[in-house]
Amino acid sequence: MNIRNLIAEHIKSAMKAAGVPSKFQAHVAPSKNPKFGDYQANGAMAAAKGLKMNPRDLAQKIVDHLTLDDIASKIEIAGPGFINIHLDHSWLAHHIANISNDDRLNIAKKTAPQTVVVDYSAPNLAKEMHVGHLRSTIIGDAIVRVLEFLGDQVIRQNHVGDWGTQFGMLIAELELHMSEGEQAELALKDLESFYKQAKSHFDSDEAFANTAREYVVKLQSGDAKILKLWQQFRSISLSHNQEIYQTLNVTLNNDHVCGESFYNDDLPVLVEELKEQKLAQEDQGAQVVKLAELANKEGEPSVVIIQKNDGGYLYSTTDLAAIRYRVNHLKAQRILYFIDDRQSLHLKQVYTLARKAQFVPKETSLEHHAFGKMLGKDKTPFKTRAGGTVKLADLLQEAVERASNVIQGRENFSEQEMQTIANNVGIGAVKYADLSKTRTTDYVFDWESMLSFEGNTGPYMQYAYARVCSVFDKAEIDMDKHISTITIDAPQEKDLAIKIMRLPEIIEQVADDAYPHTLCSHLYELASAFMTFYEACPILKSDVSAEQKASRLQLSKACAKSLKLGLNLLGINVMRKM
Ligand code: ARG
Repeated sequence: MNIRNLIAEHIKSAMKAAGVPSKFQAHVAPSKNPKFGDYQANGAMAAAKGLKMNPRDLAQKIVDHLTLDDIASKIEIAGPGFINIHLDHSWLAHHIANISNDDRLNIAKKTAPQTVVVDYSAPNLAKEMHVGHLRSTIIGDAIVRVLEFLGDQVIRQNHVGDWGTQFGMLIAELELHMSEGEQAELALKDLESFYKQAKSHFDSDEAFANTAREYVVKLQSGDAKILKLWQQFRSISLSHNQEIYQTLNVTLNNDHVCGESFYNDDLPVLVEELKEQKLAQEDQGAQVVKLAELANKEGEPSVVIIQKNDGGYLYSTTDLAAIRYRVNHLKAQRILYFIDDRQSLHLKQVYTLARKAQFVPKETSLEHHAFGKMLGKDKTPFKTRAGGTVKLADLLQEAVERASNVIQGRENFSEQEMQTIANNVGIGAVKYADLSKTRTTDYVFDWESMLSFEGNTGPYMQYAYARVCSVFDKAEIDMDKHISTITIDAPQEKDLAIKIMRLPEIIEQVADDAYPHTLCSHLYELASAFMTFYEACPILKSDVSAEQKASRLQLSKACAKSLKLGLNLLGINVMRKM
């Protein structure tokens, strides 16, 4: 249950009863300071201004009509017309006890679920996945999990780069290797060096370059032999990516691949349509669209080329075709793109043009959820020591190795257990470090801080979960059994309960705005609230009454379940012991 919305609904009906027109919002938010209650409704001020009334008088009128029943113990008006709501302790205690036995914490699915297409990861298949693909992959996957949890029908679209001129060169190289008896899998084991070989052949060997060019044409005209080589290359490259997704605990699989090549047949049709609609016009042999909507300061329209003068199509053309497919075939109501901020203009052009051409109905929302770069400690884009791009496979392997060093000797774990913990901690650290930063800014990738057990880090969050579990182990109580009702007396108990109660609000917010750091921050506050609670409110000490012990255990259990749910929604595993 989303308590904030529940309160807002009650305030709205009180506003209505007080004669406030429905265009005025309740504006309910959590209070920053417990002195002012747990929630504040700030809508009276704006409404009073609009209605030319005294804001405190209007606030009073709203409160007179407000029924929050047993949810609130006190409602007061403060300052110029804030309505402060203090939650009732026994209501809160009852609510937490109720949700604490359910793994979903009774968080309801949406009453109006949507079909949402999420475009994320989308590496270029000519090369191996590198750090540049990390952010899209893990941010996109976290949002996918959140949306699915809330009941949306999510369709993942991995818009891989599997077409274009470079494939001519790569196929020519592959053919060369295979003609020498080498297996395709072996030749493409290291895509990075394969690409380099192909490129140097292309640059130094005229005959090879000609073959490569010829293969591009053959590929485009559907030559069976060339297509077969291309498919071989494509499928091996995809299987490399699949290994990365597995290691990263990302939910993408081969069924979600719908790359650039998928739209080939639609491209000429699409260009024709844009011509018919008089949106596209010829310019020096190319087909271009001029968008006055995106004009620059000088008033010059933004120019999008949709077909080159040699007949070739572009990145934008494919993206337009993809939008059409997503709207018409996938029936998307929302389309989310997780692509870095350097492609903002590209997406603006594509969205504007797609709307103009009526490929997208008004109600369908097109959303670019952009993000910044991953930087090294020197604040320049993250590179290897030698200055090259960092392969994702190497980065993840290093993460697990480093995690294994950090946890070495912490407890007596078997070899097998150690491996699992190192995996979860290493991968969790990399993911959490990224997800916990506001995605729109660049961030510094720093091994030491992300693997620290202190602060807002993956290991700290996983450890907080294990810590709660250890209380149950010490008490020799099965966390999965119902233990007790809850009573809330100490302020630390209340604080913890409130943080648990707010989780659905946060999850719904993330589903709306696709900023996962909000969830990280909330989980961090929750974990910290547990540590404070545990210090102030002993559970296992001998002078604690049996009822109090049981109540506090039940509250701790709700906390553990919240941490687990929240981290799982971010794609991070928790462990009972670490
Ligand atoms: N392959 C592209 C790249 O590596 C990303 C594709 C993102 N998705 C899209 N629909 N344009 O930059």
